[in-house]
Amino acid sequence: MPKKTTVQDYIRTIVDFPHEGILFRDVTTLFSDPRGFRMAIDQMLHPYAGECIDKVVGLEARGFILGGAIAHQLSVGFVPIRKKGKLPGTTISQEYKLEYGEAIVEIHDDAIQPGEKILVVDDLLATGGTASAGIKLIERLGGDIISCAFIVDLPDLGGRKILESMGVDVHILCE
Ligand code: PRP
Ligand code: ADE
Repeated sequence: MPKKTTVQDYIRTIVDFPHEGILFRDVTTLFSDPRGFRMAIDQMLHPYAGECIDKVVGLEARGFILGGAIAHQLSVGFVPIRKKGKLPGTTISQEYKLEYGEAIVEIHDDAIQPGEKILVVDDLLATGGTASAGIKLIERLGGDIISCAFIVDLPDLGGRKILESMGVDVHILCE
């Protein structure tokens, strides 16, 4: 086994999951390794040193794992954006398209106060559908999006361009 030196080295690819033709970039192998996980969190935090952030918003499901660790490190609160029907309180909803399907995401309508500075976190950016739906929810609540942080970009799917065209700052560790 060659020595793992980069975040990318810890990510494995599962062929044909969850559908034929999809190369699924699996970050569970990164999360389960203490060195890999710390490296990922430290590198995701790096661009925001000295930045004022009030809350971290994580996108279901792997964005919860990363977002929780990043919020803890920044000593700020964490807010989940979840798939439809999972949040118990009053929510607002946003439809979006995935690389493989369609869905609706939701946020509690009192989770963000107008003007709060928000860092959005997820594991992977593909078409940008999930992240742009999340951004729209946060903006509908009056949140000020400081940046979006991901581990993996799938550049052929164009998500980064979509987020940047929305005027959002984007940081991604690898392609
Ligand atoms: C994956 C990934 C991102 C999203 C990226 O989540 O974790 O949230 O897809 O794709 P996009 O840029 O095309 O929207 P998935 O929808 O598989 O949900 P899960 O994390 O709940 O399994
Ligand atoms: N979400 C959307 N596309 C994905 C992929 N190829 N690997 C992992 N998560 C994804």
